[in-house]
Amino acid sequence: QLREQVLACTACGLCQGRKHAVFGDGAQTARWMVVGEAPGQEEDRSGLPFVGRSGRLLDAMLAAVGMSRERDVFIANVIKCRPPGNRNPKPEEIAACGPYLMRQITLLRPERILVLGRFAAQTLLGVDASIANLRGRLHQLKADDGREIPVVVSYHPAYLLRSPSEKARAWQDLRLAAKG
Ligand code: URA
Repeated sequence: QLREQVLACTACGLCQGRKHAVFGDGAQTARWMVVGEAPGQEEDRSGLPFVGRSGRLLDAMLAAVGMSRERDVFIANVIKCRPPGNRNPKPEEIAACGPYLMRQITLLRPERILVLGRFAAQTLLGVDASIANLRGRLHQLKADDGREIPVVVSYHPAYLLRSPSEKARAWQDLRLAAKG
């Protein structure tokens, strides 16, 4: 039902330019939830999250800690429709879309949330800090049902493609998520 609601959503202007809203994809009983920013061009075209270059790197990162999107992980974004030209989402778009992500978290009840990139981390945790400041420790997110879910912050794979030397830190983050 929630998926159908998202696919038909017209709560903000992003619906006008989209080919597909991207609800999320992966295991229905997922141990982890991975949260990115917003669909890019390939995601808008296919209706699936993280299917471009960033997505291939994300799959490889997950595989390095024995996780797969088919079996263990549900992948979603803070924003479900592609912002034109991949611009940063506007406050009113975040306000309109945020409740969908919170509902997904409550329904999926993941053991762990891995949040990728500054925008998604700041939005989900409601803070205004840098990735450098947020990574390396567990945060707690209070789901709508009151449950506390541990959150690990890491770099967005698009950033890692531009700055491969940061992959060592991303590996530390994955290990923290895997053991935490
Ligand atoms: N980047 C994101 O943040 N999400 C996607 O789904 C694809 C690229």
